Amino acid sequence: MLMETLLNAVQAGGAQMQHYFNGRFTVSSKTNINDLVTEADHASEKAIIEIIQKNYPDHFILSEETGEIKTSSEYKWIIDPIDGTINFANGIPICCVSIGLEKDGEIIMGSVYNPFMNELFVAEKNMGATLNNKKINVSNKSNVGNSCLVTGFPYTYLESKNGPLEIFSALIRKAIPVRRLGSAAIDLCWVAAGRFDGYFEHHLQTWDSAAGFLIVKEAGGKVTDFSGKDYSVYQKQILATNGLIHEELRGIINGKEIE
Ligand code: IPD
Ligand code: CA
Ligand code: CA
Repeated sequence: MLMETLLNAVQAGGAQMQHYFNGRFTVSSKTNINDLVTEADHASEKAIIEIIQKNYPDHFILSEETGEIKTSSEYKWIIDPIDGTINFANGIPICCVSIGLEKDGEIIMGSVYNPFMNELFVAEKNMGATLNNKKINVSNKSNVGNSCLVTGFPYTYLESKNGPLEIFSALIRKAIPVRRLGSAAIDLCWVAAGRFDGYFEHHLQTWDSAAGFLIVKEAGGKVTDFSGKDYSVYQKQILATNGLIHEELRGIINGKEIE
């Protein structure tokens, strides 16, 4: 029943994305001119929340545009109604709905749906991860030198030692491919599916990673912060890899020279 609600909810959000995609919709700015929210984000969020509340009226909800709908339930639905909003607003079909379900502080289910590529990623704790009902696994590359990586950049640039551009530049100078898709949830799912060997980002929000984090773990990958501690969806830094390149990539992120 929880899984059925999760799948109905991501698909209802996806249907709203399809309805508005490449059409006319209102767009407004949030923290800065390029931090956007569209009419489609609100429509997707409304459709998702309606389904969850119809089935589980007492569950806690944390959703990007609405914020918290607090209850005392041990279940919390963590919703990104459109991850990759800038892509969406520009007609770039790399965007998705992402929903994670937390129970007693632990993510137990997650789903990410990109309606434009018809890709539905699902994971349940200890049950593995799937893409369109087929089991997925992380890649088996064992060196950063021959890996294909992905990263993202925050809306407000972070000037810091080992900041996003410093790491990007160190990797690119060694001719290591690093992509930038613009959707953290899709980045994580594509690590889970073995398309990317590793993903890192400095400043995520809980709803960006709640589903993708579990999908990577259930596909056999490793997810930590930059210091190597187990990842929590309530922290900003994320490093998700196939496990084999984790420590080497973590070293590079922390400023180690690439061999
Ligand atoms: C953003 C995307 C992007 C990441 C940003 C997120 P949004 O989410 O996931 O890839 O780099 O940090 O905020 O705003 O499109 O939901
Ligand atoms: Ca997001
Ligand atoms: Ca969003």
